[in-house]
Amino acid sequence: MPRPIQAFVHTDALRHNLMRMRAAAPDARVWAVVKANAYGHGIERVFEGLRGADGFALLDIDEAQRIRSLGWRGPVLLLEGVFEARDLELCSRLDLWHTVHCDEQIDMLSRHKTQVPHRIFLKMNSGMNRLGFTPTRFRSAWTRLNQLPQVDEISLATHFSDADGAPGVAHQMAVFAQTTEDLPGERSTCNSAALLRHASDAAVAADWVRPGIALYGSAPDFPERDIAQWDLKPTLSLRSRLIATQDLQAGDTVGYGSAFRADAPMRMGVVACGYADGYPRHGATGTPVLVEGVRTRTLGRVSMDMIAVDLTPCPTAGFGSEVTLWGQASGGAVLPIDEVAHAAGTVGYELMCAVSARVGFTQD
Ligand SMILES: Cc1ncc(COP(=O)(O)O)c(C=O)c1O
Repeated sequence: MPRPIQAFVHTDALRHNLMRMRAAAPDARVWAVVKANAYGHGIERVFEGLRGADGFALLDIDEAQRIRSLGWRGPVLLLEGVFEARDLELCSRLDLWHTVHCDEQIDMLSRHKTQVPHRIFLKMNSGMNRLGFTPTRFRSAWTRLNQLPQVDEISLATHFSDADGAPGVAHQMAVFAQTTEDLPGERSTCNSAALLRHASDAAVAADWVRPGIALYGSAPDFPERDIAQWDLKPTLSLRSRLIATQDLQAGDTVGYGSAFRADAPMRMGVVACGYADGYPRHGATGTPVLVEGVRTRTLGRVSMDMIAVDLTPCPTAGFGSEVTLWGQASGGAVLPIDEVAHAAGTVGYELMCAVSARVGFTQD
């Protein structure tokens, strides 16, 4: 009998969230961002729920190969482009569109022998200072690419640093719009936060949007907004069971470092889930958790294989009771991943990507 912890990927929730992303920019085409193995969900497990997208955007050629072997014949985009010249062979073979963000990638393309010209997303560094040509270098990069026989259509892209917060996208958008003013080609700027918060501006929403985290049921601007406010549904649920209970007396402590001390008699449960499953160790006493669908809190330190939880609000819970670490309980109650991440000083992105290899996944 394996340990009772399991992760569930919810196909209907993925479909719902994709529909929400489309509704936010109805005239744009949608890249479903499935990098990092679909934000930890597993590319194969999200494919059914996201196949209504117009394309899949990712980082690794290996992931692109997996999308193709699922039968996807539509666009696939490498968000960071190629890492070495021989990747271009695979781009040709797998018909991948790829980002070009630096001179070295143009050099590689200029030496590449291909029968079929490549579809390029030329990336501008409009202020994020991560990848892309600065505005002063962008046009010369475009001109150089445009002269290559290896290149077909060139789309223009940038990425926002502050779409989820007060600075917003206006400054980067102005830089992008001004620099690309008379250049042909489709545009792509939006991640989830920009799509949800700024896509009423038609220039921001055009022509391809690139949502990731919102597809996976996490609010990009939590705690300002939560998934209920954005009408998103959890796509990944981490569930386990109680494997023991303890009756504590006033003064009793729990776990390593005695980090929790009961100030009155209380019942607590021990959950088969720990940091070796990907649960964040930094979640202190009070991190929310559902026991039998009832919201309660963790107690003390997270250990490698176990967490303690307060059973005060759930007096009927006992050995074998269902525990939802995040996502949806089997009875329907929801604990957004963002709340757990926030309590642990991190973001939903990190928790999704960190579910460990020893946790079995089920797609429903
Ligand atoms: C270039 C690019 N586009 C889109 C996304 C999707 O972003 P998010 O998951 O915040 O929607 C990312 C993710 O980091 C990205 O790097």
